[in-house]
Amino acid sequence: MPLSEMMWVEKYRPATMAELVDQESVKQRLQALLQKKEQLPHLLFAGPPGSGKTTTAAIIARYILGEPWHDYTLSLNASDERGIDVVRERIKTFARFADRREGVPYRLVILDESDEMTSDGQTALRRIMEENSAHTRFILICNYSSGIIEPLQSRCAIFRFQRYGEGPVVEHLKAIAKKEKLEHSGDSVFGAIYEATQGDLRQAINMLQAASATGEITLDSVRSVTGATVKGRVADIMSAALDGDFEAARSKMVELTRVYGVPERDFLKYANESLGGIKVPDLGKVISILAEYDFRLVQGSQPELQLTAMLAQISSLKEKAS
Ligand SMILES: Nc1ncnc2c1ncn2[C@@H]1O[C@H](COP(=O)(O)OP(=O)(O)OP(=O)(O)O)[C@@H](O)[C@H]1O
Ligand SMILES: [Mg+2]
Repeated sequence: MPLSEMMWVEKYRPATMAELVDQESVKQRLQALLQKKEQLPHLLFAGPPGSGKTTTAAIIARYILGEPWHDYTLSLNASDERGIDVVRERIKTFARFADRREGVPYRLVILDESDEMTSDGQTALRRIMEENSAHTRFILICNYSSGIIEPLQSRCAIFRFQRYGEGPVVEHLKAIAKKEKLEHSGDSVFGAIYEATQGDLRQAINMLQAASATGEITLDSVRSVTGATVKGRVADIMSAALDGDFEAARSKMVELTRVYGVPERDFLKYANESLGGIKVPDLGKVISILAEYDFRLVQGSQPELQLTAMLAQISSLKEKAS
């Protein structure tokens, strides 16, 4: 059995708009647009990880193109593809086969992580979109719409996906638990998973699956997996740094970003959140350090170097204090 079949995030990924939980305003606007699918504009989906962007893009593709949607959809990850030239070539080749099969109005290009493209790349992308607009629609996906250049934004209908609230996440986890015939010690286990994942549904479902490995889901089994989450690891790194142990903090951070591929700005976000749970003498100082490095990352400085420097600075607070 391939891994994807064993993973609940895939097993329970919705295939139709009706199965999508929450995201009401996105669904309503999309349904209105899909009434006239020939006139569908390019779309831009912005929102945090695990908020349903990729899932929704696939639902739209299936709705517009029918079951052979895979044949008429090109899915690219902008950050994987080496540069805009590769993207252009792949789109060109793809769009060239503009056979007009019955019921297939155009082809779709889904470009994930498009905010990772340089602004030169995005400018080129804008031309590519125009050149191919007769037979192609684009769905651009990103975490931050601020990372997309204005001329691209203005060519798209923008949809903002929100983090899921506690209600929908708990409902969804309960429904999965029921289908999987899981024993659980009470509804508080779902609340605890929500607490640890803060509206990232992918992470919540993965955590449910991990916590179920021992059989019954209890608060203990949930805690044992939340400790191992990215958020928990970032919190450990921050404690090490605040303790003055720069070396430990640095090597764990490198592991987390290189091996687990945690985006550097997410690292800073989790670092900030972790400060809520611990006693920090120089809280204001630590937060302004985080803010300073967040700013540097947005400006495009070398991320690993910046995070290392940040941990060094936080670690040195302890030396000064003692
Ligand atoms: N509205 C939803 N209803 C039901 N399940 C959902 C919904 N949104 C997300 N999921 C579940 O969460 C998983 C992750 O969602 P998805 O891949 O669409 O997130 P994403 O927004 O593309 O995240 P990323 O930015 O990390 O790529 C899906 O496989 C699906 O199981
Ligand atoms: Mg995605």
